[in-house]
Amino acid sequence: MRRSLPPSAGDGPFQPRPGGDLAAIRSLLPYVWPRDSLETRVRVVVAMLLLVGAKVANVYVPIFYKHAIDALTPIASGGASGAAVTIPLGLIIAYGLARVTSLVFAELRDAVFATVAQRTIRRVALSVFRHLHALSLRFHLERQTGGLTRSLERGTRAIEALLRYALFSIVPTLVEIALVCGVLWALFDGWFALATFVTVAGYILYTFFVSEWRIQFRRVMNDTDSVANTKAIDSLLNYETVKYFGNEEHEARRYDGALQSYEKAAVRSQQSLSLLNVGQSAIISLGLAVVMGMAASGIVRGTMSLGDFVLVNTYLLQLYQPLNFFGVVYREIKQSLTDLEAMVKLLAVDREVADRPGAAPLAIAGAELRFEGVEFGYDPRRPILKGVDFTVPAGRTVAIVGPSGAGKSTISRLLFRFYDVSAGRVLIDGQDIRDVTQASLRASVGIVPQDTVLFNDTVFYNIAYGRAGASPAEVERAARLAHIHDFIMALPDGYQTMVGERGLKLSGGEKQRVAIARTILKNPAILLFDEATSALDTHTEREIQANLREVSRGRTTLVIAHRLSTVIDADEILVLEAGRVIERGRHLELLAAGGAYAALWSRQQESGQGFGQGPDSGPAPIPGVLAPT
Ligand SMILES: Nc1ncnc2c1ncn2[C@@H]1O[C@H](COP(=O)(O)OP(=O)(O)OP(=O)(O)O)[C@@H](O)[C@H]1O
Ligand SMILES: [Mg+2]
Repeated sequence: MRRSLPPSAGDGPFQPRPGGDLAAIRSLLPYVWPRDSLETRVRVVVAMLLLVGAKVANVYVPIFYKHAIDALTPIASGGASGAAVTIPLGLIIAYGLARVTSLVFAELRDAVFATVAQRTIRRVALSVFRHLHALSLRFHLERQTGGLTRSLERGTRAIEALLRYALFSIVPTLVEIALVCGVLWALFDGWFALATFVTVAGYILYTFFVSEWRIQFRRVMNDTDSVANTKAIDSLLNYETVKYFGNEEHEARRYDGALQSYEKAAVRSQQSLSLLNVGQSAIISLGLAVVMGMAASGIVRGTMSLGDFVLVNTYLLQLYQPLNFFGVVYREIKQSLTDLEAMVKLLAVDREVADRPGAAPLAIAGAELRFEGVEFGYDPRRPILKGVDFTVPAGRTVAIVGPSGAGKSTISRLLFRFYDVSAGRVLIDGQDIRDVTQASLRASVGIVPQDTVLFNDTVFYNIAYGRAGASPAEVERAARLAHIHDFIMALPDGYQTMVGERGLKLSGGEKQRVAIARTILKNPAILLFDEATSALDTHTEREIQANLREVSRGRTTLVIAHRLSTVIDADEILVLEAGRVIERGRHLELLAAGGAYAALWSRQQESGQGFGQGPDSGPAPIPGVLAPT
């Protein structure tokens, strides 16, 4: 009985589909039985043989026990003869050996299989992780990272639980039930086998139905747990915003709301567990009583020995032990399947932006960049770019200016192929970027984004991220060009300073310069600066600008700028407004034309954002916000 639940924040709505469980299990098979690893397959076979061996030994334990008792009974009742004593001794040793063998086999089985299980987990986790990175920016913007990592974590845990429980709990128990029923039948009569079978079957059925009913509580627990978690993470990530607006109480209430639903589900889950346990004990006790009653009457009738009485009792108790966990095992398996399915569904998410089959690497000659009638919208209902045409000739610099929300950063996202255009083409040296591999495209384009996010690691790590294997000297050179070296050296820990989560321990301008340094280090054929210096004061900006000009000399460069004074040297300036280029030309031409650009220019000159008025004149502009023209 599956119920659909309200969407959980992280995992998306749970969508039961027929065959989902099987599909999830099937997706594991290639890992557990890999065609390319003989070793793994041998391990699986050996583990299975050990499993059967352990169970066979286990079935022999009560038999030796019975024979020992039967041998001892006459002695105990006073009819001892000297020779008889040695026989039970052999049986007792056999009994001990059988027990030890069963145990050793079971442990060996686990040891042999551990490699298979752990390797499976590692491989699956890795491929999911790779896949997550391959998914589009759109996917990631719509998802909560906390929910994704939890899906991954739960999914891998599910694999371990599935392998452990299914292979080493369910299957062995079924094997044992069959063996025991067979032995009882052979030793006594069908009635014993039948009674045992009915007890066990009743037990399993009862557990199955009650557990199935209980799963809903568990699912609500999981979902509410996810919701509570994403709420907490989101709230803590927004620590500063919460303080700005004094909303601690509001945040606590939101969190508590989620916790309350969890509490309710958890309590009902616990109560239903008690019901399950009571019912299970009742069934087993009843079965035990019936079978022992049959054995007792057998003794009275003289058809069975005392040893037989103990034998049936031992068998049932021995079966009862693993069955005791059947409820937990069943629930875990169901839960694991759900978790696994959530993870498998992630794997099934389309990449949206994928390499064409047989895509060639981008061949860079001079790196001429061309946008040809580009149209694009994040949502088809709301076009953002409405036919953008421009060319950055090889080695030249083109600037894009315009009001906030005009679509400037969108152009950079299209160039990097985070999204595909809905009409028109983006060409580099005549090659449509959809026809080349994304890896080669992205290797050739270096972006200093508008908002820089850093890894929670050292400054050195963050700069060196621009090129794997960069030497400290190269990192330092890049840092000097980005005007951040002196600042770093003034820090107590220098290049080893930790920058905090997302780089929060650095100021906006410092982060920008780290981002510039790592792009300089990357040394790409095409450079794209998206408001790369917007967070800097005019003085620092001017110094970096000089270096950026140096870095971008002879390199195809696209500059998105807020302060017009930083783009007066550009070979062409495009004024973008509401997704269209409304003016284009060189600085002086545009001024002479007396249009939107000229108006913008004079406004910025008045408010002191130009270079002509000295480094400290005027208030720092708000990054990224340009007065509407
Ligand atoms: N992921 C997204 N999903 C939906 N809409 C988006 C997304 N990213 C941006 N937009 C919208 O697209 C429009 C253009 O955004 P873009 O970031 O290109 O503006 P911009 O010109 O760079 O502005 P600014 O100068 O403020 O940086 C905006 O109105 C924005 O709301
Ligand atoms: Mg922008």
